[in-house]
Amino acid sequence: MVTVRSHRRTAGDPVERDRLVTQHRTLPRLFGSLLLVVAAGFAGIGAASAPGGGAPARAETPRPLGQLVPVPAEVAPGGSPYAITPSTRIRVADGTREVREIGAYLAGLLRPSTGYALPVTDRDGRDGIRLELGDDDPGLGAEGYRLRSAKGAVTITAREPAGLFHGVQTLRQLLPDRVERNSRQEGPWQIAGGTVTDSPRYAYRSAMLDVSRHFFSVAEVKRYIDQLALYKLNKLHLHLSDDQGWRIAIDSWPRLATYGGSTEVGGGPGGYYTKSDYQEIVRYAASRYLEVVPEIDLPGHTNAALASYAELNCDGIAPPLYTGTTVGFSSLCVPKDVTYDFVDDVVRELAALTPGKYLHIGGDEAHSTSHEDFVAFMEKAQAVVGKYGKTVMGWHQLTGAKPVEGAVAQYWGYDRTGAAERQQVVDAAKNGTKLILSPADRSYLDMKYTKDTKLGLSWAGLVEVQRSYDWNPATYLEGAPEGSVLGVEAPLWTETLTDSAEIEQMAFPRLPGVAELGWSPAATHDWETYKVRLAAQGPRLTALGIDFYRSPQVPWAGQ
Ligand code: ACM
Repeated sequence: MVTVRSHRRTAGDPVERDRLVTQHRTLPRLFGSLLLVVAAGFAGIGAASAPGGGAPARAETPRPLGQLVPVPAEVAPGGSPYAITPSTRIRVADGTREVREIGAYLAGLLRPSTGYALPVTDRDGRDGIRLELGDDDPGLGAEGYRLRSAKGAVTITAREPAGLFHGVQTLRQLLPDRVERNSRQEGPWQIAGGTVTDSPRYAYRSAMLDVSRHFFSVAEVKRYIDQLALYKLNKLHLHLSDDQGWRIAIDSWPRLATYGGSTEVGGGPGGYYTKSDYQEIVRYAASRYLEVVPEIDLPGHTNAALASYAELNCDGIAPPLYTGTTVGFSSLCVPKDVTYDFVDDVVRELAALTPGKYLHIGGDEAHSTSHEDFVAFMEKAQAVVGKYGKTVMGWHQLTGAKPVEGAVAQYWGYDRTGAAERQQVVDAAKNGTKLILSPADRSYLDMKYTKDTKLGLSWAGLVEVQRSYDWNPATYLEGAPEGSVLGVEAPLWTETLTDSAEIEQMAFPRLPGVAELGWSPAATHDWETYKVRLAAQGPRLTALGIDFYRSPQVPWAGQ
């Protein structure tokens, strides 16, 4: 069966969205005090005056401690604010190399806009911005942090460097939006007094970028990584191969990249990452506490590979390169031995380049592979991933084969996915398969917001900002054990997207909502308060040069 992805579904159902709004309005608001703080401080957002405009010490209410995306687990406001000044130091006393690097990263964020020197020092002291490992609160886990802000110092403590890094993102979001600008701005640079104690709901908080349908440069990927870090995501899933392009150099099969990577949707020049490019992305992601999860989509979505090597085809004839957007027409030749030489070589080389735990082998939309062949192929491919020391990830069609122990299935169904397909995933979860949730009608960032959205597709429906935020990963797949859900992902398919500006139009402002679903406690989930916090991100995104979709559902301030 051949499916045209962009045409196979109709637009979203407004009745469904209305029902969800009502449902969440009735949720108890467990974070009442936080909501008051957020509301009280919101009036202060527009208070920043233009740079260079007169009195240096203007009155400005610091942003309330809870006015963050993702909203933190606990906020205890109180006491005097801390202010960054020309003499502020960033202290990383007793710090390891990683802590020093986080200090340097923070200095790099703050220097251009504050114009201050902000030296990073390992000399201990009670003043300044202090980054400390060794918080002994086990509740903080591997990624949690505590931020205490008072007159003399703001101190971030954590058990692990990742926690300090996330705490730095909190500190950053508490500063005025103009801190994100690349040119010198006026102070004051205050952080409200009080304590934030925070740790994530889910350990797996991911964004996917499809670099196959259109190729994106290392610089464009780094730019996206920086944006993911601001919202405390910790995985970057790279969709490295598809029908339209193979994007990673594999030494033992060089034509995959040099020929298979030589075009893209629409017939542009495409491109691929050399091994050193890929390693640079991996290192850069690691410096932002994101783990790269590489995907080679198998056994379908393989036209670029089949075009590059005739012997991978059952008939021995290489098809032409493909630059359209149809899915489901390609398949590796399951009975041929050479197919497994190919899979072994690719997985071996990619695993060797990837320090992270996971290797994603796709498995979606294998409409040109018989069911029997699919099951046989996935069994062999999973064994190869295990042989090279990685944990298998696959799209949820993996559950229609035999997921190996420890495998992770990524659910990408949507409101009209059939009950049998859902049940298969639920049954696998009951049998121990872990799940990542990326429902296409919620978290797919390439779905159009409205029928008037120029970019994107609409086969899973129209996904406005509220719809993309308003769901619960723990209950989304009814019957799946709660412990089976490792986390969430916001995939971005790029059939219609060609550069960073287009990525950003689709990712923002939905990406922060998926990030919040992954990070914030379920009890904080509330569209009415979320949309106010999201609105407050608008000027920050603008300061970062991100041109986002001004959804009418969000009360943007001063935009
Ligand atoms: C997918 O959207 N085919 C995973």
